[in-house]
Amino acid sequence: MSTAENRAVPEHVAIIMDGNGRWANARGLPRTFGHRKGVEAVRETVRAAAEAGIGYLTLFAFSSENWRRPEAEINDLFGLLKSFIRRDLAELHRENVRIRIIGDRASLRDDIRSLLEEAEETTRNNTSLTVVIAFNYGARDEIARAAASLAADVAAGRLQPSDIDAQRLNDRLDTAGMPDPDLIIRTSGEERLSNFLLWQAAYSELMFVPDLWPDFSRDVFFAALERFRARDRRFGGLSSAKAAANGA
Ligand code: IPE
Ligand code: IPE
Ligand code: MG
Repeated sequence: MSTAENRAVPEHVAIIMDGNGRWANARGLPRTFGHRKGVEAVRETVRAAAEAGIGYLTLFAFSSENWRRPEAEINDLFGLLKSFIRRDLAELHRENVRIRIIGDRASLRDDIRSLLEEAEETTRNNTSLTVVIAFNYGARDEIARAAASLAADVAAGRLQPSDIDAQRLNDRLDTAGMPDPDLIIRTSGEERLSNFLLWQAAYSELMFVPDLWPDFSRDVFFAALERFRARDRRFGGLSSAKAAANGA
């Protein structure tokens, strides 16, 4: 039996794209070469996600903690985001891809913020794959901003404290209106979430693959989707096989 929770193809896949620096180091190249090659992996992954029929693909591109990196590397990452949107927006739009941005955009430079907003605006009504770019994103920051927005409504008398429940908080997150990720993939062998989608990951399947992000490919992606199919998601209940045996 197939339910929305046990679909063969996950509705939402989120990826922590890690390992660009190590990919470059292993070749004796500066880290920036790894980031550049990583953009090519992004292009291939977006195509593969559309081909697989995934509804939402979220890509962790820059975390709220990545500001701890040297300024030159930060500038490089911002430059790559800009050139990606400039070069790829028209084609993504033609392919009916919708772009959404999550993260704290208020503290971004004006040129970056307006470029991101232009990408969202241009593709707003597209109906195939939604590509969610997590940029200047940190889950604790996102949850704190959602809490502050609810607190403002309480202070203004629009909400009572007892009105606040998980659904209302969920609706104030940057991901409001999106399904939770069914599958979160992290590349490069690291096994942690690094402040990514902490709220939304409550029942996500986690998958850690050894490949460094620049080596991520359609094949690696499809293999991960195949492994996902074998996972038994219970959401606190019983597995579908046991539920069926019990006459549910
Ligand atoms: C991922 O690769 C890209 C970003 C975090 C922006 P890294 O730059 O973290 O690469 P490693 O982890 O140092 O290899
Ligand atoms: C997570 O990777 C952030 C992104 C992929 C954008 P990091 O490389 O920043 O994570 P840590 O520092 O190893 O936890
Ligand atoms: Mg890293």
